[in-house]
Amino acid sequence: MLAAFSIGLSSFHGIDWTTLAVLALLSVICESAPAPLDSKNARVSLSYSAGLASVILLGPAGAAMVGASAIFAGRRDIGLVKRLFNGAQFALAGYLAGVVYIAAGGETGKPTNGSFPGIITPYVGAVVTYVAVNFALVAVVLVLTKLAPLWGFQWRPIGSLAAGQLAYGMFGLLIAAPWGLIGPFSAVLVLLPMLLARWAFEQTSAQKRAHAATIAALCQAVETKDYYTRGHSERVSRGSAMIAQAIGMPPSRVGAIRYAGMLHDVGKLGVPTKVLQKAGDLTEEEFAAIQLHPMRGLEIVREIGFLDEALAGIMHHHERMDGTGYPMGLAGGEIPEFARVISVADAFDSMTSNRSYRAARSLEEGISELRRCAGTHFDPALVEAFIAALESEGWTQPEPVCPPEGEEIETTQQDHDDPSTPLRVASEGVR
Ligand SMILES: [Fe+2]
Repeated sequence: MLAAFSIGLSSFHGIDWTTLAVLALLSVICESAPAPLDSKNARVSLSYSAGLASVILLGPAGAAMVGASAIFAGRRDIGLVKRLFNGAQFALAGYLAGVVYIAAGGETGKPTNGSFPGIITPYVGAVVTYVAVNFALVAVVLVLTKLAPLWGFQWRPIGSLAAGQLAYGMFGLLIAAPWGLIGPFSAVLVLLPMLLARWAFEQTSAQKRAHAATIAALCQAVETKDYYTRGHSERVSRGSAMIAQAIGMPPSRVGAIRYAGMLHDVGKLGVPTKVLQKAGDLTEEEFAAIQLHPMRGLEIVREIGFLDEALAGIMHHHERMDGTGYPMGLAGGEIPEFARVISVADAFDSMTSNRSYRAARSLEEGISELRRCAGTHFDPALVEAFIAALESEGWTQPEPVCPPEGEEIETTQQDHDDPSTPLRVASEGVR
C-alpha cells in the first residue's frame, strides 16, 4: 500500500493535462446538475463516472484533481463551505480509489486490448473505495452536525443510494476503455445517454412531487372537517409505512401504502359535516352515512391512476378481523393487507391524539388497547410489528391542540377511528 501511495504522489509527473482538463470539465458539468433521488434532498451525481474514469486514465493524483474540481460546480443551492467540502471529499475519494486501484494491480493510462479483463478487479476495488470514502465522510459530517443519529441510522435509503452510486461509478470504466481510440469523445458517447436517462429520471421525480402535492391538497381538505385531526393523515401514513417496512414489504408497496395512509379518510368529504359534528347519539341513517365514508373515499380517488393498491386500503380500512367491520364485513385474510396495516396505525394515532371531547391517551395505553383488540379488531401480527417498530423508531405524539380564540372551528364530537370510544348509535348503544 505504501508503494502505491508513493506511485500516487509520483503520478503528478508526466500527467496528461489535456485529459485532466476534459475530465475535470465533465465532472463540473455533471456535478452542476445532480439528479434528485426523491422528494427529499438526496441527490446523486454523474460526476462519479468522470471521477472514476480519471482513476484509470490519470492515476491517484489526477483523480484527486478531477475530484477537487467539484468546487467549481455551478450550483446556487450550496455555499462556499459546502463547495470546499465537496471538492475535498471527491479529491480524497479519488486519490484513495486510485491508490487501491494501483495496489490491486491496475495500470494507469489509456487502456488497451491487453488491459482486459485484468483491469476489472482493480477497477471494482476503486469504485467500492470511492463510494465508501464518500459515504464515510458524509456520515461523519451528518453525525457531527447532529443531522443524523450515531445509532438508529436509516440504512434502507442509504443502501439504494449506494447502489446508484456504485452503478454510476462503473460507467467510469466505459468512459476510460475507448479513450485511447477516440479520446474525449468517449465521454460524450457514455455521458450523453446517461444525461438523457437523468433527464427522464428527473421527470419521474417531478411527477412524484406532483403526486405528493395532490395527496397533500386532498388531505388538507379532509382535515378542515375537524380542527383536532390536523396531521392525522400524515401520522397514519408514517405509521403504516413503519409497519410495512417491519414486515418486509418492498419499497414500491411501502410508497403505495404511504399514499393510502394519507388518503384513508378522504371519504369524510362525502359525509355531511353536521353528522361528523353531532355530539349526541347518531341515528341509524347518520351511522350509515359514516359507514359509507370508505366507499365515498374510493369514489373520490378511484380515477387517480397512481394509487393502485392504495385504493383497497382506503376502501377496507374499517374492516375488522372478526368480520364485524364495514363496509363489506370482510374477515381475517379476506381483508386486503394494506387495509389491515392502515387500521392499526389509524386507531393508534386516533387514540394517542387529543380530541375535542377527550385528552390524548399515552403511547402505553394506545399499545395495550391495540393488544387488547388484536385478533378481533386488528391483525395480531401487524400489531406486534407496529409495536416493535415503535420501540425502534419511536413515535411523536402531536402537541395538544389549542383552537384560536374567537375563531369558529370545525370539530367532530365522535371519532369513528377510535376503538376505545366507539360511536354511539341511538338504537343499539355503542358500535
Ligand atoms: Fe376512517
